[in-house]
Amino acid sequence: MSRRFHVRTFGCQMNEHDSERIAGLLEAEGMSATPDAADADVVVFNTCCIRENADQRLYGQVGALAADKERNPGMKIVVGGCLAQKDGAGLAARAGHVDVVFGTHNLAELPELLARADASGNQVVEITDETAVSPSALPSRRESRHAAWVTISVGCDNSCTFCIVPSVRGPEVSRRSGDIVREVEMLVADGVVEVTLLGQNVNSYGRDLDGRRPLFAELLRAVDAVDGIRRVRFTSPHPKDLRPETIEAMADCASVCEQLHLPLQAGSDRVLAAMHRGYNAERFLARLEAARSAIPDLTVSTDIIVGFPGETEDDFAATLEVVEAAQFDSAFTFVYSPRPGTAAAGMDDPTSPEEKQERYKRLTDLQDSISWRSNLDRVGTREEVLVEGPSKRDPSRLSGRTRGGRLVHADDDGTITPGSFVHVDVTSAAPHYLLADVAGD
Ligand code: 5AD
Ligand code: SF4
Repeated sequence: MSRRFHVRTFGCQMNEHDSERIAGLLEAEGMSATPDAADADVVVFNTCCIRENADQRLYGQVGALAADKERNPGMKIVVGGCLAQKDGAGLAARAGHVDVVFGTHNLAELPELLARADASGNQVVEITDETAVSPSALPSRRESRHAAWVTISVGCDNSCTFCIVPSVRGPEVSRRSGDIVREVEMLVADGVVEVTLLGQNVNSYGRDLDGRRPLFAELLRAVDAVDGIRRVRFTSPHPKDLRPETIEAMADCASVCEQLHLPLQAGSDRVLAAMHRGYNAERFLARLEAARSAIPDLTVSTDIIVGFPGETEDDFAATLEVVEAAQFDSAFTFVYSPRPGTAAAGMDDPTSPEEKQERYKRLTDLQDSISWRSNLDRVGTREEVLVEGPSKRDPSRLSGRTRGGRLVHADDDGTITPGSFVHVDVTSAAPHYLLADVAGD
């Protein structure tokens, strides 16, 4: 029997995509995937370090495998991704039963690192600051046959004071647009109908190639022109870099979905300045308005951090006000988590954790009601859904996403296959999904 591997992914879409490449690399080595970590020969944790609880969960799960490894001494435990890049040798020392630690720039070397660990019986740690082999050139085992991630840039040149990413993923490096378009063409030839362009800050795509031209907008137009691509999404943009040309390209390109993720982070101008975000609440709302008026039916999501160091009750009230004004269709909300080495980690933070939790609850209560209202507004409309497969909560239904990215559960007569487009009539709405009937046309 071939050796089996199991990949467990933490964190963002970039990591999910990296995990597809890890799986692709291991399959190219003749291994096969297993859903069960306990009986895998190789267990890979692809880690995140953006908030502290991601660190803690990782150490908990790696620790839990120690017993399985005692039963199966041949098991190799591998830790890659952002926490590995950040903690490196420290991680190896803290978790002695880990065999390989590799950084975000060393994905391509995984098979070789595993072989080295096998041959020597010692821990192998490989972390560099630059990528030798473009990960895009690596084999990839896609989770979905019809939807794919496409990396357009790695790293980030911003300096948001709360964020560890720039120090972990390094400065922004953009891929050539011709390479990106060729990858999309190959994916389409392979049956893909939807791509999500990925970068830490997609709006500054290409600044390292040509600082003046609106290269992200040009890229959207070039990807839209690929024959056969039905849906183009992208994440994440930074509000300060959202150029009018990008909004125009979104409005013009039929395949570019009516969906925008625009991370607000905070509504108080004082806190936004302390975060180094490069916009104030008024400018944020003006950009949002510009996007909404150019792109009919735009669905907007955001990220918000509660309890940034020094956030007062008045600052928090300003966040609630902007959230009320912006009417985001959905939001990812976080309690601030200090990351050692970031500027914010050294700032005074007199607010108690209880107070932050209480603010967090007020924010999510408000946003849940806005999200629900936004979904209720869709009841009675007809939507195009790209079918993902049977619904997880009710396998007699199918699940899919609208162009705006809303999750839909619809009735299924068993004839509709994943990857197909259907029209549905929305019948009811919950805060985080829609229920619908497949339209009879
Ligand atoms: N604490 C809490 N949330 C954070 N994020 C980034 N860094 C932190 C932190 N230190 C959030 C931001 C970002 C999202 C990906 O994670 O909202 O947009
Ligand atoms: Fe993604 Fe950032 Fe987490 Fe790395 S640290 S996995 S880039 S969210």
